[in-house]
Amino acid sequence: MTSTNELETKLYEAYDTAYQVFLQKWLVNRQVALDLIQKHLHPQPPQVAVLSVGAGPGDFDVQVIRFLKQQLPKDFTLRYLAVEPNPFHRQRYEKEINVPEFSDVELKVYPIKVQEFQTDEKFDIIHYTHCLYYMPNDEQQIIRQGLEMLKEDGFLVITLETREAVIFETMFKYAAFTGEGFADMLEMDKMQTIVEELGLSYELINYPEYLDVHLCFEEASSGSKALLDFFCQADSDKLSAQQREEILSLLASKVNQQDGRELVSLPSATMIIRKQIVT
Ligand SMILES: C[S@@+](CC[C@H](N)C(=O)[O-])C[C@H]1O[C@@H](n2cnc3c(N)ncnc32)[C@H](O)[C@@H]1O
Repeated sequence: MTSTNELETKLYEAYDTAYQVFLQKWLVNRQVALDLIQKHLHPQPPQVAVLSVGAGPGDFDVQVIRFLKQQLPKDFTLRYLAVEPNPFHRQRYEKEINVPEFSDVELKVYPIKVQEFQTDEKFDIIHYTHCLYYMPNDEQQIIRQGLEMLKEDGFLVITLETREAVIFETMFKYAAFTGEGFADMLEMDKMQTIVEELGLSYELINYPEYLDVHLCFEEASSGSKALLDFFCQADSDKLSAQQREEILSLLASKVNQQDGRELVSLPSATMIIRKQIVT
């Protein structure tokens, strides 16, 4: 019998594999969040402190660190903390950030879930980039905790896909077929409702992003399975041949051909919540 820990490790490994393929095929626009950070950051000497929640394998955090190092005056130090429960992501993350280019940055990675994270430290920026999907029913508490951990001039950055993203349709279809996976998931429209219920003001920018799904329609391979797993947010091998065909047909019906790529739309939005009192 597989123990809970073994099962959890297998799930973390499968998610890591699927996310790596997803990242290669994702036409992601990280610049919107970087521009918003630039707009809202009012650094006070001597240090800027950042917390990255659900940091993943680190490709975005590398961009954030590089961007902040360029923006900050030379006499500022940068402290950059990350919370990441997936050990396979953490391994990649540490490889990405422990490089000579960042030798002057104070770096720390916590191997825990954000719900377990506790500190007295205050941050200029806390970003939750494409991670709040995985914390159902804890969103309000996480936002409250985030606001408490901010410096007076600090802000939260939340990035999520919006409800039009095709992935919600494929994962809900998977859940209906198998009774497993996600029958519901947070997206930015629901996040807006949660934030509004807390009485918070925010700035929001919506923008298009795409994913090249060509690989899903190729001969069976580890890559095509990984990408379909990501669209199901679960193991696509649990689908019958007909169910799999239905999910592929759904994806195919959403494809736009562009320069030899088969793109589906995964629109996203980034929200900024400045430090404020929660009522
Ligand atoms: C889609 S990935 C996003 C990774 C990265 N932020 C990016 O934009 O590429 C979602 C991340 O959320 C993390 N995650 C899931 N549940 C979490 C939790 N309770 N606390 C912190 N991170 C969590 C996952 O391990 C994963 O790294």
